[in-house]
Amino acid sequence: MSTDVYKQLRANPYRPWPARITSITELTETEKLFEFRLIDEDVREAFDFDAGQFVEVSIFGVGEAPISISSAPSKQGFIELCVRRAGDVTSALHNKQCGDIVGLRGPFGRGFPFDEMKGHDVLLVAGGLGIAPLKSLINHIHDERHDFGRVTILLGAKNPGEILFRKQFDMWKHREDFDLIMTVDQPDDSWDGDVGLVTKLFDRLDVDATSTYGAICGPPVMYKYVIEEMRKKHMDADRIYVSFERRMKCGIGKCGHCGVGHQYACIDGPVFNYWEAMNLQEAI
Ligand SMILES: Cc1cc2nc3c(=O)[nH]c(=O)nc-3n(C[C@H](O)[C@H](O)[C@H](O)COP(=O)(O)OP(=O)(O)OC[C@H]3O[C@@H](n4cnc5c(N)ncnc54)[C@H](O)[C@@H]3O)c2cc1C
Ligand code: FES
Repeated sequence: MSTDVYKQLRANPYRPWPARITSITELTETEKLFEFRLIDEDVREAFDFDAGQFVEVSIFGVGEAPISISSAPSKQGFIELCVRRAGDVTSALHNKQCGDIVGLRGPFGRGFPFDEMKGHDVLLVAGGLGIAPLKSLINHIHDERHDFGRVTILLGAKNPGEILFRKQFDMWKHREDFDLIMTVDQPDDSWDGDVGLVTKLFDRLDVDATSTYGAICGPPVMYKYVIEEMRKKHMDADRIYVSFERRMKCGIGKCGHCGVGHQYACIDGPVFNYWEAMNLQEAI
């Protein structure tokens, strides 16, 4: 990594770097997966991140939005973002074509403690769009699979049509090195998987509490119940990680928009362990 470029990236964190859209995949009616390539070669080489970190995507003349990186850090040269059409910026991004240029700044925030998790079992629980940041972690674990014990992934969605990355996960159901269970609230005729909330799957999980790290990402309502299940399995509070999505503007701890307790989600998070979250008196 060139030290000069690294310094440039960090010296002005407000500066968006131009990035070209290299592929767009429509995942559902509301979510698209974008692949970007930073145009400046030096910046591209200097850009490294941890699973769970995010970037601010800027669309010229519209604004910026924080989006989690969903590709693994090992996927050098490309950055993948899974984006739900929610409002101005995300709709403008959805209207872009391959070859168009947007701005990216980051990576920002604190991601999952990947190195600390090594040597342990990992239990990953995602609901809906929460799979976006967790996919980065899952693929990173996949790349260094021999460093981990048992890896269990629980995926929940409202209905089969809303399961993001379904093709990848359908293939993973048959892998022996990952235990993957998918469940939906409302099945259709094509569905032969589990039905019900993701928490229901805990009944048949055998968790080694002395060695398991948890990572949870999904709609806010899910956290409380999944954490309860993990605690019933005697998992330590400081080994259960959650990602908090707060409204963000600057992404770098300056504007105060993302206060969570006495900390800022953009720099102290978005990933916190449950012990930290309790001390922030965060309601989960
Ligand atoms: C750390 C972080 C990571 C994120 N990762 C992803 C991701 O991987 N994929 C993805 O699709 N989205 C992600 N989001 C949410 C995304 O940032 C918002 O959907 C986006 O900022 C909306 O911007 P907009 O201009 O399109 O919508 P706006 O026009 O600003 O708002 C449209 C609607 O979205 C609501 N909204 C705005 N910001 C948020 C927010 N932060 N959380 C919930 N609702 C919001 C508004 O209240 C409004 O109802 C993430 C947010 C954070 C903080
Ligand atoms: S987004 Fe500005 S302080 Fe966190």
